[in-house]
Amino acid sequence: MTKPTTDATAHLTRRGFLRTSATAAAVAAPYFVPSSVFGETAPSNRITVAFIGTGNQGFLDLTLFMAQPDCQVVAVCDVNKGSDNYKEPSDVRGREPAKALVESTYAKRSGSGKFKGCDTFNDFREVLARKDVDAVVIVSPDHWHDVMAIAAAKAGKDIYGEKPLGLTIAGQQAMIKAVRDKRCVFQTGSHERSNPYVKAACDLVQSGAIGKVRRVVCNIGRQNKLGPGPGWEPTPIPSGFDYDMWLGPAPEAPYHKDRCLYNFRFIDDYAGGQTANFGAHSIDIAQWGLGTSLTGPKEVEYVYADYLPEGSLFNAATFLNFRCKYENGTVLDCVTAEPSVRTAFYGDDGIVSIDNQGQNALVIPRKLTPEKLQKRVKYHSGGDHVRNFLDCVKSREEPVAPIEVGHRSASICHLGNISLKLQTKLKWNPEVERFEGGRSDEANKLLSREQRSPWKIS
Ligand SMILES: NC(=O)c1ccc[n+]([C@@H]2O[C@H](COP(=O)([O-])OP(=O)(O)OC[C@H]3O[C@@H](n4cnc5c(N)ncnc54)[C@H](O)[C@@H]3O)[C@@H](O)[C@H]2O)c1
Repeated sequence: MTKPTTDATAHLTRRGFLRTSATAAAVAAPYFVPSSVFGETAPSNRITVAFIGTGNQGFLDLTLFMAQPDCQVVAVCDVNKGSDNYKEPSDVRGREPAKALVESTYAKRSGSGKFKGCDTFNDFREVLARKDVDAVVIVSPDHWHDVMAIAAAKAGKDIYGEKPLGLTIAGQQAMIKAVRDKRCVFQTGSHERSNPYVKAACDLVQSGAIGKVRRVVCNIGRQNKLGPGPGWEPTPIPSGFDYDMWLGPAPEAPYHKDRCLYNFRFIDDYAGGQTANFGAHSIDIAQWGLGTSLTGPKEVEYVYADYLPEGSLFNAATFLNFRCKYENGTVLDCVTAEPSVRTAFYGDDGIVSIDNQGQNALVIPRKLTPEKLQKRVKYHSGGDHVRNFLDCVKSREEPVAPIEVGHRSASICHLGNISLKLQTKLKWNPEVERFEGGRSDEANKLLSREQRSPWKIS
């Protein structure tokens, strides 16, 4: 994971250009802002970042990026000009609120109370065409991740891409190809990889502290919204919302106010339900502890799944369990639960369990003695996933959650969802990433999806 994969000389960045070009000041003029905003960080060392998707998580990621003194958010893109109807009714998000957040944050920092210099876009392709943007943060719904990341890589941008990596295994493979062909730095948004506490717990498991791991349980949260039931009627598309560009590569579908913002995660055309939403975290930790980050299980089996009534807008499984088996016999159970525990490893000599916030890991030795009843791994300081990404943009080193790692953990979510759809057990070959035997023909068809024209993942 430490091998540098990108070549600083091959990847001509805006910052490199600024350092070498006599015309730099003219080219990047809009972003030479007062030093009071960015302290001592010279423009040539400042990473310019654009956000694609400024909704629920986009706002959180925005604050994390803006907190870094050597990074400047210069543009925000969202097909929603600005509205509520996000995760919480009071959340007002979209490109105009995001621009306001960026400019007010930098204004406060400047001391003068004034700052202008964050552009807004409806179409992400216009963001990618800008030569003065070093990196993009992709926080759009899952059905867009592959198309956007591939276009961003082709435009020479480094990418912080939210989890789960993509909507399909084929789409994710195409993302890897584009990122590696173009030598981009790509950080998957599985922020637990930067959490020293989760790292300590996974290191313990990998070091054999609990003996051979027989089973790992990955908890995923319940569905927190229900959406409209059978017989639902379309609702009018609000002004300032580019619904066609929201749908993008997904199939044509009538608009409903509960289809898009935040709720897309419960609809199969756009995401993988809570399996992929939470599983991209809990399964990623499992892969880390098991030492299987760059491979996957040999088998995936449907155990049970419940759904809302037929005809409901939300059609992802609401309550589920699927089970995977690795080559060495270790079983991974992904199960709906109240996830106070996110991931728990059960070994011959004890248990390591990691809580939902990744702030508590409990080590329970099997042979209890008064001194060794249980041990907590202490959390020191918050690891910084964004910081790690920005450092790698500069050094061209591999970040802690490279695209292949994000691919393999998201793949298990997709494999699980395929087993739930077919209600069966399937053999998976992690080397060639295909199903084999039994109902493999049906299952292999679910590794990719049609893209609505003109969108393509190639
Ligand atoms: N790392 C984490 O802990 C974490 C937490 C929550 C969400 N996420 C991930 O972040 C992503 C977004 O989730 P969310 O909850 O923020 O959803 P959201 O619906 O609140 O936000 C997504 C935003 O993307 C915009 N969008 C849609 N299509 C677009 C397009 N073509 N161009 C530009 N913008 C477009 C939407 O209008 C919306 O504002 C998901 O992939 C999700 O899994 C990660």
